Order: sequence, then C-alpha cells, then structure tokens
Amino acid sequence: MSKITLSVIKADIGGYVGHTDVHPDLLEIAKKMLKEKGDMLIDFHVTRVGDDIQLIMTHREGVDSEKIHKLAWDTFLACTERARELKLYGAGQDLLKDSFSGNIKGMGPGVAEMEFEERKSEPVVIFIADKTEPGAWNLPLYKMFADPFNTAGLIIDPSMHQGFKFEVYDMYEGKKIVFNTPEELYDMLVFIGATGRYCIRKVYTKNNEIAAVSSTQRMNLMAGKYIGKDDPVLIVRCQNGLPAVGEVLEAFANPHLVSGWMRGSHTGPMIPVSLEDAVPTRFDGPPRVCALGFQLKEGKLIGPQDLFKDIAFDSARKKALEIADYMRTLGPFEPHRLPLQELEYTTLPHLMEKLKDRWEKD
Ligand code: F6R
Ligand code: MG
Ligand code: MG
Repeated sequence: MSKITLSVIKADIGGYVGHTDVHPDLLEIAKKMLKEKGDMLIDFHVTRVGDDIQLIMTHREGVDSEKIHKLAWDTFLACTERARELKLYGAGQDLLKDSFSGNIKGMGPGVAEMEFEERKSEPVVIFIADKTEPGAWNLPLYKMFADPFNTAGLIIDPSMHQGFKFEVYDMYEGKKIVFNTPEELYDMLVFIGATGRYCIRKVYTKNNEIAAVSSTQRMNLMAGKYIGKDDPVLIVRCQNGLPAVGEVLEAFANPHLVSGWMRGSHTGPMIPVSLEDAVPTRFDGPPRVCALGFQLKEGKLIGPQDLFKDIAFDSARKKALEIADYMRTLGPFEPHRLPLQELEYTTLPHLMEKLKDRWEKD
C-alpha cells in the first residue's frame, strides 16, 4: 500500500468579531471547496481555533504537493471573498501574495505535513493554537519525546527507551540541525529554550520513522513588517512505540508561558481548551490550544475527538487563568510585554527614528 500524507494547512483570513473567531460562513465555504475541488483527497476535516481556519487533509500526493497546496490556497481565496463581503476584520490577512506560485509555504498560511506508512492502527493528535507562535510547541514537544517525568514510556517501554531525534530549525537564518536525545539533551535545550528563534520542526524515532511535525513559518519575518503571530499547528502520531495519547496531552497539563496574546506582543499562558472554548476574547487572548484526535483508516479521518474537553484539564485551565490575571497586572512591563527585539516590526523602529536626535551621550 502506498504511503499516506497528512497535511494541515491553516490561515487567518478574517476575524469575527475582531480577532476572536471565524465566521461560520467561511467554514462552510472551506468544506464546500474541499468537497467539490478535492478529487485528490482521501478525506478532509475543516476546523478552527480563535480566528484561524485549519484544513486537515489526507491524500497520496506526498508533502509539498503543488496540487494540495493550490487547493488550500484556492480554498482560502474563496473564504476571503466571503470575508470581504461581510467586512470581517482583517479579511485575507494571511494571503501575502497575489497569486499562487507552486508552494503555499512562504505565502502566508502555516503548513505541517507528514508522509508515512499507516500502521495497523494509527492514532494521531492534531494540535491547533491561536494567539501564539511556532516556538510555543518547543516545551510540550520536549516533554512528550524527551522528558521521562512526562512520558513514562521513555523508561518503561523498551521500544521508546532509546529516545528520539529532534530536527531544530533556526527561523532567522533558515538553517536546521538534528539532535539525538537523550544523548544531546543539554545541547538541544540551549537552543529550543529560545522559542522566538529556534523551533522543533520534526521529531523522528531512532529508526527514522516520522513522529511529529510542526508548522514553522514566521509570518512576521516573511512579511518584513508586523502582521500578527503565526498561530501554529502540530501533528503528533501516538502509541505503540510512540508516546501514548495521554502522554502527548500531558505535556499541556502545566500551562507554559508563550509569546503572542494582545498584538502578538505579550507573554501569557497557553490554555488547553475544548473547541467550544477556543474563542479568545480577554485582551485578545490568552493564547489557546485545542487537540483533535483522529484514528486513520486507510487515510480516512475517523474523528475528531475534542481531547482537551476532559475535566482533568480543568485545574490546568484554572492555573492558566490565575497566571493570566497576574501577568496582566504587569501591563506594559516585561516579561508580560515582549522584549524590544521581539517588537521590531511594530513601533520600535518608528520610535527610534523619531527620538534619535534627543538621545544624548552621558
Ligand atoms: C494578536 C492579534 C490582535 C491584534 C489586535 C490589534 O495576534 O491579532 O491582538 O494585534 O487586535 O489589531 P489591529 O492593529 O488590527 O487593530
Ligand atoms: Mg487575526
Ligand atoms: Mg489567529
């Protein structure tokens, strides 16, 4: 049997209201487009988190397929048309180019794709986030695949005991490196702790089986001016030699601080929520993450299960809200507001220019 490709392509093409949610018409249009134009798809699922739409698609075209990327681009264009009619906020904001040029990467939307031989049973979890950036996945991916306090299988399961390989991507320089864990954990942590620059793009088993893929585009770096955080996605395969579904979800039980939130310029807790609660309104946030579980059946998407709906995540949510209250009290001070170099595409260059003659040597 040929390999299956799982593609998750996302974009913010207009908010309802402000930057909080996606208008239902847009989701209907996306479904209709994929149904009518997606002959090459095995299956698809359209979803949203906050103001972002995700197209979850299975097919046999491989990663970076022009056909699949064009389908996603055309779908987002059709949604943009309706977003413009409704005068939704920021209609078409993530479509940075005028016409499709072969690969949707670098054109605004976020992409995570993986190709693999479907196992006897293939559970996958697709994480989707709003009001944050790709580096937000670093800590949870480290926990899932390298931290025995999170993932019991790293100690107990002989097929996981040898650890995993992490591909780390430098978003500023466009370079990548592969770290072997646990051998090179301390080296890797130097980089992945700097979430604004380095992000974990892929995780493999030591036998080179793909286990996880994240979207790594940094739209504000691509656009050359600030247009919003990237609101990333992440695909994780689970079970039978890979972390269990529960180990994968456990990585979000202690809400970690991420960059994003209001104006993409603040640090706040990432709250694990059900799809229903994925409408970030307080100070345009705080950042949200949802987890959709699917079983694949010859590429058919059986699901989703709304995995963070579990009441066992209630205390993580409560803790996150307490952290959010505390962070808000800091107002425009770091570490609530991001450091200056993270604001480089907002007011900083203008302010520097305006005040340059008033700074005196002292
Ligand atoms: C965060 C986000 C929002 C906007 C904010 C201001 O990623 O998109 O917090 O930055 O609502 O938006 P504008 O400048 O369009 O009024
Ligand atoms: Mg938006
Ligand atoms: Mg968004």
